[in-house]
Amino acid sequence: MSAPRRLALAGVTMASLLCFYLLPWSQLTDGLSVFRSDSPDSESSLGGDRASPTPSPAAHAYVLGKTTVPSFIGDAYANEDVPPQTDCRDGIRSRVLRSDVAGLFLKNIPVLQQSTDATPAQYSRLSRYVGANGWGSLTYPVLSDALALLNSSANGVMLDDWASRGNRSGCIRCAVVGNGGILKDSEKGEEIDGHHYVFRTNGAVLTGFEKDVGVRTTHYTFSTNTLMNSMMSYASAGYRGPPQSQETRYVFLPDHDRDYLMMKAAAQHTLVEQGREQGKDPTAYFGKDVTAAKLKMYHPDFIRYLRNRFLRSKTLKTKHRNIYRPSTGAIMLLAALHSCDRVSAYGFMTPQYKKYSDHYYDKQYHRVGFFINHDLMLEMNLWQRLHRAGLITLYMRS
Ligand SMILES: *[C@@H]1O[C@H](CO)[C@@H](O)[C@H](O)[C@H]1NC(C)=O
Ligand SMILES: *[C@@H]1O[C@H](CO)[C@@H](O)[C@H](O)[C@H]1NC(C)=O
Repeated sequence: MSAPRRLALAGVTMASLLCFYLLPWSQLTDGLSVFRSDSPDSESSLGGDRASPTPSPAAHAYVLGKTTVPSFIGDAYANEDVPPQTDCRDGIRSRVLRSDVAGLFLKNIPVLQQSTDATPAQYSRLSRYVGANGWGSLTYPVLSDALALLNSSANGVMLDDWASRGNRSGCIRCAVVGNGGILKDSEKGEEIDGHHYVFRTNGAVLTGFEKDVGVRTTHYTFSTNTLMNSMMSYASAGYRGPPQSQETRYVFLPDHDRDYLMMKAAAQHTLVEQGREQGKDPTAYFGKDVTAAKLKMYHPDFIRYLRNRFLRSKTLKTKHRNIYRPSTGAIMLLAALHSCDRVSAYGFMTPQYKKYSDHYYDKQYHRVGFFINHDLMLEMNLWQRLHRAGLITLYMRS
């Protein structure tokens, strides 16, 4: 049975509200963004505002003050009271309290959703938020049919097999691997594989790049949309689908009902019953041995919390606000930050990003693309800040 989860809303204290307004807005950047629908992370299928091909000024600015909070923000979240898996003394959980992100961090934020979350009361709370931020893009039957399958204790815990890998007195070390060109010829493969857990995302091409990026994948993060786009965009680089191994868990980033439908089919070994992926066979992506216990799904409260507190882009002040979300890689890295005792990040954007190609597997130099649905400059600044605070170790090469 799943661990019971307290669904009381986390109280929003005055102190956290103040941090909330002062910190993220001061880090705004000028990253020019143009939306391209073939970007693997594009959200062209999402309801709401369509992006235009040119950057637009903040046309629909709303009042931001201590009393007027736009209703789509929703800075109140479910509260999950789970004891830490280790007694690691100087792990992220204790370091964060002494860092400058202490006011943003909620240690009881649920990272993953599971069967016990699907209640009519939670549905009425979360259906106010669209896309990855809530359940506003799907019906209650689709939601509850899918989440009912995430009913084992493994579904609700990111590092569900820690008991078989380590012990309470050890510290859990995670490598989080983005696909950035900084990894090309880095020879970091062995170091990456030497961590307890290895997180990867989207077009993670391993064959031919083992020396630089390693071979293991314990957690693969994707949305159904980014997976389908990766299958198309990176086929020529050798991407054939998510990594498959005994230790691989699949972590859905649900930004559409497509994810709930795909997850249900994967758990039940059936074809996807409706929607854009109707008739697709999930074992083609996750292998014939995939079981419900290997599947996880990020909690919409977690995604909205990351957007609101860590990656509150100024895009939220524009008409593109409904297609903006933290990138898939950013969500993966911040999920590791909330799950592991130590996090090493590789292949994420650094201030020297222009020196490196977009991806480590690009055959020719390809500059990093900026799109309106993500704010990579804001993300880059966050990685620098977390690195300086000693909360992650960011691979910067130089
Ligand atoms: C989880 O749900 C499945 C499918 O309904 C059921 O067969 C299984 O017994 C349930 N497992 C637990 C641990 O409740
Ligand atoms: C627990 O893990 C720590 C750190 O990995 C290790 O040094 C220690 O020997 C382990 N203890 C036991 C009882 O296995």
